[in-house]
Amino acid sequence: MSLVLNDVTVSRGVGPVISNVSLEIKPGEVVTLVGPNGAGKTSLLESLSGVIRPSSGSITMDDVDITKLSRRKRSRTGLQHVEQGRMIFPSLTVLENLRLTAHSKADIEAAISLFPELEKRMNSATVLLSGGEQQMVVLARAFAAKPKYLLLDEMSLGLAPVVFMRLLPIIQQIAQTGVGVLLVEQFAHLALKIASDSMVITSGHVSYHGDPKKLLDNEELLRKSYMG
Ligand SMILES: Nc1ncnc2c1ncn2[C@@H]1O[C@H](COP(=O)(O)OP(=O)(O)O)[C@@H](O)[C@H]1O
Ligand SMILES: [Mg+2]
Repeated sequence: MSLVLNDVTVSRGVGPVISNVSLEIKPGEVVTLVGPNGAGKTSLLESLSGVIRPSSGSITMDDVDITKLSRRKRSRTGLQHVEQGRMIFPSLTVLENLRLTAHSKADIEAAISLFPELEKRMNSATVLLSGGEQQMVVLARAFAAKPKYLLLDEMSLGLAPVVFMRLLPIIQQIAQTGVGVLLVEQFAHLALKIASDSMVITSGHVSYHGDPKKLLDNEELLRKSYMG
């Protein structure tokens, strides 16, 4: 049981933007993916969720080959992708945003229980919430869909580190419910802290794959991995 990227190459326009990348995300674990701008992180997530087809390699989810499945089918079988820059629907209330993905009242309640801060704001228009709270709604909405695997692309964009720090324990809790999480983050140090596996990609190539603690303990290695 896991979400697996097998030797995947993704090409866009001029050529490959990720080359021969393999990665496994197991239920209940957080895998953190970091790398400089333009490294191919978003493209990697897009190949997993079906936004873009790999030019070679395959993707399996719980031993089923999903490489050729549409994005919609992948999402129905339990793959949620929170895209970079994904926002809430501002004119809708928090509850209405959750109803967009939840299948039942119980799913909504399960999502709210992870976000006590949202509970008293359920009937507020999301546009009135702070940036951090809006990202909580984005996360709650993805969790309400009851994913088996959750891909999170730079949720902290535009947020202060201190705001993102409030999201981290929630992401950890989501994983503890059995969801496999692939976390892409600009705040590498914070995101590596909650990971059990990590990968650095640079110019589409894997420059490090392994224990996140090793990266955290070794600034030199982290810097080298970033430089390629
Ligand atoms: N829709 C697109 N069409 C063509 N090239 C793209 C597209 N999206 C991204 N790229 C290119 O692919 C490379 C990887 O980008 P991306 O996956 O967004 O990296 P990251 O998320 O790590 O910043 C970059 O060189 C970028 O310019
Ligand atoms: Mg990106």
